[in-house]
Amino acid sequence: MNHDQYILAVETSCDETAVAIVKNGTEIITNIVSSQIESHKRFGGVVPEIASRHHVEQMTIVLEEAFEKAAITWEDIDAIAVTEGPGLVGALLVGVNTAKALAFAKQKPLIGVHHIAGHIYANRFEQEFQFPLLALIVSGGHTELVIMKEHGQFEVIGETRDDAAGEAYDKVARILELPYPGGPQIDRLAALGEESIAFPRAWLEEDSFDFSFSGLKSSVINTIHNAKQRGEIISPEDIAASFQASVVEVLTEKTWKAANQFSVKQVIIAGGVAANKGLRTALQEKFAQSNIPLMIPPLSLCTDNAAMIGAAGSMAYEQGRRSGWDLNANPSLPLR
Ligand code: KG4
Ligand code: ZN
Repeated sequence: MNHDQYILAVETSCDETAVAIVKNGTEIITNIVSSQIESHKRFGGVVPEIASRHHVEQMTIVLEEAFEKAAITWEDIDAIAVTEGPGLVGALLVGVNTAKALAFAKQKPLIGVHHIAGHIYANRFEQEFQFPLLALIVSGGHTELVIMKEHGQFEVIGETRDDAAGEAYDKVARILELPYPGGPQIDRLAALGEESIAFPRAWLEEDSFDFSFSGLKSSVINTIHNAKQRGEIISPEDIAASFQASVVEVLTEKTWKAANQFSVKQVIIAGGVAANKGLRTALQEKFAQSNIPLMIPPLSLCTDNAAMIGAAGSMAYEQGRRSGWDLNANPSLPLR
């Protein structure tokens, strides 16, 4: 690279309207995230139509703010990267159409990015990747173990068969009448409680790296229901601690097993649930027993943002990948 490369990135797959400018794939120039959490809170979850509407309202404001803060001009921008999927289709469409309009008007290359590739590449702001690497992606929509043998190549070795880890957190939080998003709330309560209830661990088949969280969720519901019928009260702190222990143990053990089986040189974690204190500590303790380095992103880069899309887009740009004017939102885009 004989001149600095600047990627403008747009992310609107769920409830954050985000625009970032990323330099050479490893440096954040600006990273603006406009969250809609307040608007969705009273419904206890993300309402797709409201999300799309908010993205339309916020997009130009966030874009302008990104350029103001970055103090760079359109001339400097080499390409525009945008999340094309997976996510909510109406929400994704706002980002994709914004990026297409900008690319057309400013005559810039357009690059569609997979949301999970973005979560993984958020780690590249911290440290260079060492291949083969194993990524554990845990978010509101995804629970995946991914092997990367080189940049831009992803092999999914395990995924959830039902609920995603973040989804399980949000659903259990709702049962405990905690506000949305529930993950951080349960994380906070878990630290105050005792692991007094033996909730199940879904290990699945011996050689499987897949996950399942719906049985655990049902078990939490049944436990609370049965206690209520008997007139007993179980402390929400203990439920949170016991639920979190089950999720964290399965995630940690499967990640550990995969890291050893695939002889990886690095393990990274990504996605909103990677912000979980219990998970961060358990993985750190586990990998301290080995010489496999574990990379944990700062909290601000765990949840949805556009800098991560810029990081993945930067690599795609270097590898010569471009999208055409037929780029479209794809709510179930596979990771390849
Ligand atoms: O990556 P993300 O921002 O959006 C998706 O791509 O889904 O992840 C959001 C998810 C939500 O389910 C939220 O409850 C969960 O991440 N989350 C947490 C924590 N912080 C966010 N879950 C557990 N512990 C946390 N500290
Ligand atoms: Zn995400």
